[in-house]
Amino acid sequence: MNCTRKIDDDIIWVGADNRRLKLFEAVYNVPRGVSYNSYLLLDDKTALIDTVDRAVTDIFLENVEYALGGRTLDYLVVQHMEPDHSATLVDVLIRHPECEVVCNKKIFDMITAFKGAEVKAKIVKDGDVLELGRHKLTFVSAPMVHWPEVMVSFDMTSGTLFSADAFGTFGALSGALFADEVDFDRDYLDEARRYYCNIVGKYGAQVRSLLGKASALNIKRICPLHGFVWRENIDYYVNKYTLWSGYEPEERGVMIAYASVYGNTENVANALACRLREAGIKCVMHDVSVSEHSWIIADAFKYSHLVFASVTYNGGVFVNMENLLHDIAAHSIRGRKIALIENGSWAAVAAKGMTEILSSLKDVEFVGNPLSFKSALGADREAEVDALAEQIIKSI
Ligand code: FEO
Repeated sequence: MNCTRKIDDDIIWVGADNRRLKLFEAVYNVPRGVSYNSYLLLDDKTALIDTVDRAVTDIFLENVEYALGGRTLDYLVVQHMEPDHSATLVDVLIRHPECEVVCNKKIFDMITAFKGAEVKAKIVKDGDVLELGRHKLTFVSAPMVHWPEVMVSFDMTSGTLFSADAFGTFGALSGALFADEVDFDRDYLDEARRYYCNIVGKYGAQVRSLLGKASALNIKRICPLHGFVWRENIDYYVNKYTLWSGYEPEERGVMIAYASVYGNTENVANALACRLREAGIKCVMHDVSVSEHSWIIADAFKYSHLVFASVTYNGGVFVNMENLLHDIAAHSIRGRKIALIENGSWAAVAAKGMTEILSSLKDVEFVGNPLSFKSALGADREAEVDALAEQIIKSI
């Protein structure tokens, strides 16, 4: 049975949810699933915008045929060649040999590289217009949002921006296609932030560039390749993208991420959190051996102050913390205030390693000196936790 939804009488969502996926991009936990969106425009000519991941092939193809209602498919607009949107491209073309692919040159080359064969294609560049009848699609390149070949498409008739990965969200749609059909801020913003920060967070400058190009368009609706369609309160989400792409924190507050083997480092992290909360400072905590990195990276984007506490391990930083910090550095987070705590029963050196990794971040300011201790921090040194908390509070 088809699971399509109408956006307009002549724009149909023909995508699919996947709630069985364990790891998105083989890295990111998606406990609430993910949607792969595809859109069909029914005009004098018909055009499908992107395809879906291999895992949801059957329902996607059924949706497309149902929405076409026996019509031929004239165009397949390919905006992004990552296989979660292109894996079923050939499946569509086999069923619709009359269909012409519409893409830019980089995408065309990637189709050949991924699929091992050239397809019948109309190569477009920025500003070109594809006339479907009433609808007119124009194209805007969006390199590194989040691959180099990406382009987005704008329907000048309906004001619909087909935004590729931009403005996506983790989480299956579960029947609700539009963001205004759910309490997005309460129930999905965290997943939207986690999606943004981990997928395109490294490419803030390129996202800013796309936002600049988009600001010149009269956008009434945003249709991303994952998550909800936006038709109301679009500025709310655009403003979030403006913050995230500028690496500006959403909250003045503290994220504490700690690596603790037997609980003594965790104890100091907890004591610091108590001091901060007593002062009215918002504070969240992650055990780096429990929280998957994507959640910690999302909070590193969200909060103004970051505290990393690590036990010393193999003469360096505890492995899960070391991996996390490299991951944070790879996402180009900048402009944060950072405090460090280290533990080591015979040689506490974790702070040195953490400092080396974090020093590669731009506009980072270290708050105070690392709080260093061996084995466990005794009551006689509580004043040092108080002092670190005080320095953090003063800098917020
Ligand atoms: Fe959802 Fe970059 O692919």
